[in-house]
Amino acid sequence: MKRVDDFRLNFGNKELVPIVIGGMGVDISTAELALEAARLGGIGHISDAMVQTVSDRRFDTNFVSQKLKTYKANVASSDKSEVHFNLGVLEEATRNHVGRTMDAKRGDGMIFINCMEKLTMNAPRETLRVRLSAALDAGIDGITLSAGLHLGSFALIEDHPRFRDARLGIIVSSPRALAMFLRKNARLQRLPDFVVVEGPLAGGHLGFGLDWAQYELATIVAEVQAYLQSEHLDIPVIAAGGIFTGSDAAAFLEQGAAAVQVATRFTVTRECGLPDKVKQEYFKASEEDIEVNTISPTGYPMRMLKGSPGIGAGIRPNCEAYGYLLDANGRCAYIDAYNRQVELQPDAKKISVMEKTCLCTHMRNFDIWTCGQTAYRLKDTTTRADDGSYRILSAEHVFNDYQFSVDDKVALPA
Ligand SMILES: Cc1cc2nc3c(=O)[nH]c(=O)nc-3n(C[C@H](O)[C@H](O)[C@H](O)COP(=O)(O)O)c2cc1C
Repeated sequence: MKRVDDFRLNFGNKELVPIVIGGMGVDISTAELALEAARLGGIGHISDAMVQTVSDRRFDTNFVSQKLKTYKANVASSDKSEVHFNLGVLEEATRNHVGRTMDAKRGDGMIFINCMEKLTMNAPRETLRVRLSAALDAGIDGITLSAGLHLGSFALIEDHPRFRDARLGIIVSSPRALAMFLRKNARLQRLPDFVVVEGPLAGGHLGFGLDWAQYELATIVAEVQAYLQSEHLDIPVIAAGGIFTGSDAAAFLEQGAAAVQVATRFTVTRECGLPDKVKQEYFKASEEDIEVNTISPTGYPMRMLKGSPGIGAGIRPNCEAYGYLLDANGRCAYIDAYNRQVELQPDAKKISVMEKTCLCTHMRNFDIWTCGQTAYRLKDTTTRADDGSYRILSAEHVFNDYQFSVDDKVALPA
């Protein structure tokens, strides 16, 4: 039986270990995690979700408080249409995050940035153009466009000097989405360098409805491969979602996938940005603790632990400080859900909003514990300390386990 190490991902003149650590916002896939993947010869992702907050936390900027100060008078208003991002600040924050990560890069692998297009930021085209251009300026090796794939994104950066040399890829969950993207971008004469096919067991937002369980990653990967073949297109396909062991990964590589993208197993590593006590919640989870719900204001179903403190928390919308999910008209589904509850309970001191969540605030505070469907198996990947807590792993250990293990085995830490 083959193992992952028997395969390589060929990207131009680069030969990589075919393991990609997927983007996990907000700063769950940290620079440290991405740097480890690159050092070990694979691909790591940072994420540009809420990049101004990430810059504040890591580089001592104060972009969030500046924005809040600018729009303070609007805090009690439910009309957020005037709350805009300063594009210069957005650019600076992106350059900080990407530039310093790339400066620290060692080894033969690559570092990409995951760019969630559902972060519409009350000016989708303008903010996305700045995010993409600034990441390219700061030397990112590649960009993975995800969640809410904007068919015109490539065109936003077609004049950038790195448009044809950086690796640009997209995440899809069906051949139909890929076909639409390719059709829309045909005039640019620039194909994606890779396509991540994300199945229904992935963490984060899903490209499926609540009927996600009826779909299977292997089937969708095969459909995408057949579609590409029928169009005579040679684009590497990367399989993602529910790939838990090295053997799972090797099976996809044998089926013709160019690489695998994995995330959940890295949520319990030291380099992952989740606080240690949240990592313990991931370890402890049983299958019944994991749900796919519709509380994300993006409109996409999202998988998370049922015990996430952000579920039902009825906080006042925080768009003056954050506002990443405001659409082109300055609206967010959480604001509407919150206002409905306030109307129903005008005298309540504290309300609960079950319908939607203030995703910016709760992802920023690590209070929405999104995970893949296999999270309940994480406890089997480590040992326990005397106090009963699970031992946090190193990213290198998990990466090596994917690369070298066989027979569905998972190596425990030494
Ligand atoms: C904690 C967590 C956060 C995630 N956040 C994002 C994200 O911000 N953008 C994105 O495109 N995918 C996100 N994902 C999906 C992963 O990048 C990846 O494709 C998927 O989870 C792989 O499946 P696995 O977790 O079963 O290995 C996230 C996954 C997890 C577990």
